[in-house]
Amino acid sequence: MHNSMTFPTPLSTQLDPHQLRIDFPILQTTAQGGMPLVYLDNGASTQRPQMVLDSMNDCYSRYYSNVHRGIHSLSETSTHAFEQARQTLADFIHAASAKEVIFTAGTTAGINTVARSWGDQNLRSGDMIVLTMAEHHANIVPWQQLATRTGCELVFLPIDRQGHVDAEQMDLLWQRHAERIKLFAFTAVSNVLGTINPVQRWVQRAHQIDAIALVDAAQAAPHMTIDIQAWDADFVVFSGHKMCGPTGIGILYGREALLEAMPPFLGGGAMIRSVTTQGFTSADLPEKFEAGTPPIVEAIGLATAANYLSQVGLPAIHAHEQQLTQLAHELLTQIPGLRLLGPEEPTEKGGIVSFVIAGLHPHDISQWLDMDGIAVRAGHHCAMPLHQSLEISASTRASFYLYNTAEEIEKLATGVQRLQTKVTGGGRRRRSAT
Ligand SMILES: Cc1ncc(COP(=O)(O)O)c(C=O)c1O
Repeated sequence: MHNSMTFPTPLSTQLDPHQLRIDFPILQTTAQGGMPLVYLDNGASTQRPQMVLDSMNDCYSRYYSNVHRGIHSLSETSTHAFEQARQTLADFIHAASAKEVIFTAGTTAGINTVARSWGDQNLRSGDMIVLTMAEHHANIVPWQQLATRTGCELVFLPIDRQGHVDAEQMDLLWQRHAERIKLFAFTAVSNVLGTINPVQRWVQRAHQIDAIALVDAAQAAPHMTIDIQAWDADFVVFSGHKMCGPTGIGILYGREALLEAMPPFLGGGAMIRSVTTQGFTSADLPEKFEAGTPPIVEAIGLATAANYLSQVGLPAIHAHEQQLTQLAHELLTQIPGLRLLGPEEPTEKGGIVSFVIAGLHPHDISQWLDMDGIAVRAGHHCAMPLHQSLEISASTRASFYLYNTAEEIEKLATGVQRLQTKVTGGGRRRRSAT
């Protein structure tokens, strides 16, 4: 511990991360060099508890078969488990019907599906799509591609110094272009700034002008209760691997009437009712959007992950992460030259803390922390336009989850402080982040 750093009294949390860590095999391992692993890269991907691994192994070992195809009993068993997983995910997000829950490969695949299907069908030259400047590339590039195909226009709402969307700019845009705005696509929680956006209010604003609202919930679904019906959003997307589930799977929620009206995006097996040499007719929802063999075992693993998170309690997870964020803010702001990105107030954030330090490149910070077994992310975090608007090329991001502890946050702060002291004390010169 660096002697100039003041540590606040330990936080009391509603959940016990030390107890939860036991569920995660990888957290029992050590990092390179035998250091305890301090995993603070949960915004990129989380770890999995044993019960998720077991449920997937169980499927492969005992009842795996392709789904929806065979008449044999193995196929019936795996189809039942797969559809049960869909229902679990529908319940997890409080969807009205499991038909509205499409299994995709992840958030990126979900947004691309909407852009290709709903976008190509509905948008024309002169129409406008509104995004925020804090979007992940997954919620930018598919719309840029759509703009190239259709001639529609993208508008980015600027972010103020406190990490929030500039409300005046939003009002202005709404007043001037109510007729032209057809889609408002935004993240529920920024993967860089950590800002929690007012989803329900923004969805209402989109609906007031008859626009569609798409919510990127990649950084929200794993960390807080999601109530799709309260949000009233038209499309919601998220990824399994960011919520203790497997890679290669995610959810696209779509309002039933919209999904019914949309053409299928991918064509092939499973998404058809009938095929002739002349053409095809589409299957009903949700299969219409699930061409080919779906991620069967991944769906079962994701449902187990959703059950695990529900058992721990999403409100408790959210509260725990905000406490870790508060501690990180308190400790990191004691470091000379360190600037936090996003809201100063931890209650406005999820468990994401990004920062820059004058004279220190994020890659060097990350490499240095790695020597202490601490995994953080350095770079643009797939949000280059946001970094450009902040006039920085990169940042360091620590992102928390249910199994992170106050001691780990202290290790992070101590490690950064030691590096900062070493550099300002005449250590080797480093590249600048700005
Ligand atoms: C806010 C946000 N949107 C989209 C994505 C893309 O998710 P995936 O790579 O799982 O498709 C991420 C991943 O970091 C994210 O944080």
